[in-house]
Amino acid sequence: MAIKNVLRIGDPALNMPSSPVTEDDYKKIHTIVEDMFDTMKHLDGVGLAAPQIGILKRLVIFGFDSNPRYPDAIAVPETILINPLIEPLDSSTDTDWEGCLSIPGMRGLVERPNRIRYSGTDQHGNKIDREVDGFHARVVQHECDHLDGILYVERITDMKSFGFIEELEQSQQYNPAPCDSR
Ligand code: NI
Repeated sequence: MAIKNVLRIGDPALNMPSSPVTEDDYKKIHTIVEDMFDTMKHLDGVGLAAPQIGILKRLVIFGFDSNPRYPDAIAVPETILINPLIEPLDSSTDTDWEGCLSIPGMRGLVERPNRIRYSGTDQHGNKIDREVDGFHARVVQHECDHLDGILYVERITDMKSFGFIEELEQSQQYNPAPCDSR
């Protein structure tokens, strides 16, 4: 078990695009994936992208059965997604609160496509191809943004809907649905 240090906003690695996972990389993937799950679970997260632990490869993990801090969130299957592709299925969007392990203690309101199709492979090279919506779709989009060096704060359209969790909790409108987590 290895809990890795999660890079925080301001670290230039979080702004860099990641490169595709190659055939050679698959040999090393097992350890990286284990470390990522250890790190994500240690921090009560629901998703993590490889660049967040300093590995600039197109690899994300996400999923949870239940999260004690977000009892209303619908379970998302535990997934290892490599070289992902995302396409919106229609023009519907959804606006909800996001957080990120790289921006601890904060939340912001982000509008994203509500229904998406995503594809890629798992750590064994098996094809993944799913159509999802809601929170599941949001988590996948948030994590895959990391692979393009994009943090959710760049997608906030009204900066009044961004702040520290403790302060936001005093606001009537705040109804958290996390992405990575704290
Ligand atoms: Ni994140």
